Amino acid sequence: MDKDKIVGKPISRLEGKLKVTGAAKYAAEYEVENLLHAYVVNSPVTKGKIKSINIDKATALPGVITVLSHINRPKLAWFDLQYADMDAPPGTVFKPFYNDEILYNGQPIALVVAEDFETARYAATLVEFDFEEKPFETFLTDHTEQARPPKFGLATALKPPPPPPTGDFEQAYQDAAVKVESEYQHGTEHHNPMEMFATTTVYNGEGKLTIYDKTQGTINNQLFVANVFGLKYKNVRVLAPFVGGAFGSGLRPQYQLLLCAMAAIHLKRNVRLVLDRKQMFFFSHRPPTKQNLKFATDVNGRLTAMAHTALSETSSYEDYFESVASWSHKLYPAPNTLFEQKVVPLDVCTPLDMRAPGGSTALHAIECTMDELAYKLKIDPLELRLLNYSDTDPSAKKPYTSKALRACYLQAAERFGWKNRTPEPRSMTRGNKLVGYGMATGIWDALQFPSRVEAIINADGKLILNNAVTDIGTGTFTVMTQIAADELGLSIEDVDFRYGDSQKPFSMFQGGSAMTASTGVGIVVATKELKKKILKVARKMDNFPFAKSDDKDIIFEGGRIYLKADPEISISFKEIVAFNKGRNIKTTNMGKPHMLKLRNYSKATHSASFVEVEVDIELGNVTVTRAVTAVAAGKIINPKTAKSQIYGSMVWGISKALHEETIMDKKLGKYINTNLGEYHIPVHADIKDMDVIFAEEEDELINELGIKGVGEIGLVGMPAAISNAIFHATGKRINSLPIHFDELM
Ligand code: MOS
Repeated sequence: MDKDKIVGKPISRLEGKLKVTGAAKYAAEYEVENLLHAYVVNSPVTKGKIKSINIDKATALPGVITVLSHINRPKLAWFDLQYADMDAPPGTVFKPFYNDEILYNGQPIALVVAEDFETARYAATLVEFDFEEKPFETFLTDHTEQARPPKFGLATALKPPPPPPTGDFEQAYQDAAVKVESEYQHGTEHHNPMEMFATTTVYNGEGKLTIYDKTQGTINNQLFVANVFGLKYKNVRVLAPFVGGAFGSGLRPQYQLLLCAMAAIHLKRNVRLVLDRKQMFFFSHRPPTKQNLKFATDVNGRLTAMAHTALSETSSYEDYFESVASWSHKLYPAPNTLFEQKVVPLDVCTPLDMRAPGGSTALHAIECTMDELAYKLKIDPLELRLLNYSDTDPSAKKPYTSKALRACYLQAAERFGWKNRTPEPRSMTRGNKLVGYGMATGIWDALQFPSRVEAIINADGKLILNNAVTDIGTGTFTVMTQIAADELGLSIEDVDFRYGDSQKPFSMFQGGSAMTASTGVGIVVATKELKKKILKVARKMDNFPFAKSDDKDIIFEGGRIYLKADPEISISFKEIVAFNKGRNIKTTNMGKPHMLKLRNYSKATHSASFVEVEVDIELGNVTVTRAVTAVAAGKIINPKTAKSQIYGSMVWGISKALHEETIMDKKLGKYINTNLGEYHIPVHADIKDMDVIFAEEEDELINELGIKGVGEIGLVGMPAAISNAIFHATGKRINSLPIHFDELM
């Protein structure tokens, strides 16, 4: 009667049909009565003041209801708390329509509300402004002399300062047998999820709002709206059952949420606000960075010294940074190290985490520097990694809870055929193409956030779970259903996981590859308690057949309880709930990371990426023809959704290495390719043969489920593997991403 485990099965997305048939509704698709439509006016000026606004022409247009700006906006209850949302970096949060000041190009400066979208959009072109323009600084590498360490604040608890120096870097570097010094530059990138940022606000009467929002965190945005407008938390409900991608852009409330709620409260009406693709470039982004590395080894290739300095852009009002300089010492045990992380405040919007923030940027530089060392040492790049392999985390001097990186290297190398590589650059060709093989290491955090889950058995004997988490396309809904089904011995049809709603028990925003561990542990804790409650009720039944048995000997399976020794005798959940006078049996519990138990350990996921590129000798264009990534991320709940996460990440790696960049015009202080025609991302034709391996990794320490999380770990190694393959193919080392074909011709 032993039921097959559902965890570990490659189950397809449970909501897949809803999505592909268009039945899944996104934030701007809810049918709401008497809906008004709003459109944002963005500043064409990069820095300065709004001297005057003339809204006469706009408001004269039939169908226009109002035009809001800093002049006539409603009074806001609270606009100055430092941490306006759970992901706010130190500083003062950006406040749309706060006053006449313009802090960055594209800043929202007015909002037109009309009967329909087209009228609102047209009227937005009729609002007239007089500006006083001021000089601005928007170009990172022009202002590196202003670099300073960032302030470390509440939300940056997840991003500690880089590890302190060890040994004597300068001396060790000077004395080293083999050394490499290199500089890397990365441009700005915008997240550009498929679904545009949008909010539909339903006005439910004085101080009461139901908000359909595009976000990674329903509770974060609920708190934000309640705080900004001085509303009771319980009167603000934020729903995001389906999210069309976000990649970090939805970690913080974006400006359309605040403006849409403002219009709804002001007009006491239902309002929808959708950003267009261009406006998606007028909020947060991955910051440009400049990195300097100095790595040295002894004659045998053992790392003796590593220095890594990273500068990145932040805004004039908040200290955002991605952890870039922190990663090399988590991988490699060099005794002499020096790490620095600095920010340069510029007249831009505050950057925000974007897929594998910091890690993907850092590992590109670290793993290309390792490749350079391998060439200098005449050691195979994979050999060099194995030579400098560490089971512990040298930066924290702690063992990892688990680390199957060696297996990742070996399995991926085998699958890829790394042994067929001839080490000389330009030594492999295919027709008129140069062929290159490159590899790189990946490492990413294994995070877990607290997560509260309500678990219910209802009169039908079905399990209902409630949690505020979102599923931004990662498969959360599916894997949570799987975890819950196994915990109670049910089939997935008998589990109803409900999510994406701020009224449900607490969850952090979905991010950091943390949700499977976070919500998953919440489910384990809640279902364990639920089982106790079910038994407590059952034991009150007349003639309860297992009265003499311990709770721990009673098995839950197929919606029934029984003893292993005698499966013929059983009681169904339905009977137990019926005995409970038909009342649901329920519990709400918090799953938490085991901080105390884990304080003597480091935790991380690891990966190894191997890539083949073809570079056209005449045209210089690059094709990633094959890629294999092996990932060690603890237990894999669903190999299908997990593999899709890694595929998506690998595509993102190709995109980062070869396609994506937002170009800043330093004379105008603005981005000039604010559309998907000129902001390049890969298309199907760019993606060839890709393969994913999950290395076995049993982690009994990390959490109840042995989960470390997948997603970002598939991206981190790819840009370096591609760059290294391009070097192998061409003999050219291009250290700024994306790599353009003209640099390779
Ligand atoms: Mo992400 S950058 O983990 O949303």
